[in-house]
Amino acid sequence: NWEMGNFTEKEIIRIRKLVGDNAQVIGAVSGGVDSTVAARLMKEAIGDRFHAILVDTGLMRLDECQQVKETLREHLGINLTIVDGGELFFSRLAGVVEPETKRKIIGETFIDLFEKEAIRIEEEAKETPRAGKVEWFLQGTLYADLIESLSFKGPSATIKSHHNVGGLPARMMNGQAQLKLIEPLRELFKDEVRAFGRQLGIHEDLVMRHPFPGPGIAIRILGEVTPERVEIVRKADHIFISMIKEAGIYDQMSQAYAALDTNRAVGVMGDSRVYGMICILRAVTSVDFMSAEPFEFPFQLLKNICRRIVNEVDGITRVVYDCTSKPPGTIELE
Ligand code: XMP
Repeated sequence: NWEMGNFTEKEIIRIRKLVGDNAQVIGAVSGGVDSTVAARLMKEAIGDRFHAILVDTGLMRLDECQQVKETLREHLGINLTIVDGGELFFSRLAGVVEPETKRKIIGETFIDLFEKEAIRIEEEAKETPRAGKVEWFLQGTLYADLIESLSFKGPSATIKSHHNVGGLPARMMNGQAQLKLIEPLRELFKDEVRAFGRQLGIHEDLVMRHPFPGPGIAIRILGEVTPERVEIVRKADHIFISMIKEAGIYDQMSQAYAALDTNRAVGVMGDSRVYGMICILRAVTSVDFMSAEPFEFPFQLLKNICRRIVNEVDGITRVVYDCTSKPPGTIELE
């Protein structure tokens, strides 16, 4: 509609004015709709003076990094740098089981790598006559993210540390880099960002993609996060999501994922008794992610999904479906 078209144009003009003819902007992208729309908008406004940075945490889903690369760099023409952080994340997460500690380590490692990259781009810019200083830091924060992060900070303590609100901008703005924050989506709701994304030529699959948390698969693995356990969750998750898509019900739910329990359970595979891992499936519907209801699968489909996961993913002997509402449960497990 004309109002959205107007918004795109106005926002591009506003960004150009704000950033000027010379300054550069950096921003983290995740492959989600928010950061992709924000990045596409920056590209439209200032071209290659915008640098998108994807930190490959080793905690993303199956083939996700490759897909983000194709979409952003090849399809949307965004100036993208991929930082390979897998080994660093896994080494820092070794032996860690406490959820908030995991989140903290991931958030800090992410910032360490991002900051290093920002400094590298800044150094490079000094040698390029047409590119100015890196002055801005882009965030794809939505109105709802701001509300939620405020509501998380009760008088007693933060309920859960959301890693894309708060920490990163604070260090980018006050640390060595001294960047200013640019948030083109901060007045929008999710459905508006989606409409906006379509207008900017972003593929429908990405526009309708379920949200994926910054700490990634790590908060879907109860207990220790190891490359082997991530691999197992990735395979189970891929089967789960593919079957949901094949059934044509992906858009009916707000989020769905496979996770891994710390406990083990006995099963029989062929003739032998195996003591294997327990996969937890979760799928919810939600309007604002502040509350959520478990998705009501047709039971036969759920059984088929469980059977395929046990048959195809080595190490998993049992699959359970989480029927907890939010509240009291949260959408993620940690
Ligand atoms: P919870 O688990 O709190 O999740 O019910 C609500 C929504 O937020 C997402 N989530 C995160 N997103 N960084 C993110 O970018 C995080 O640290 C984080 N933790 C939870 C979650 O996937 C759901 O959509």
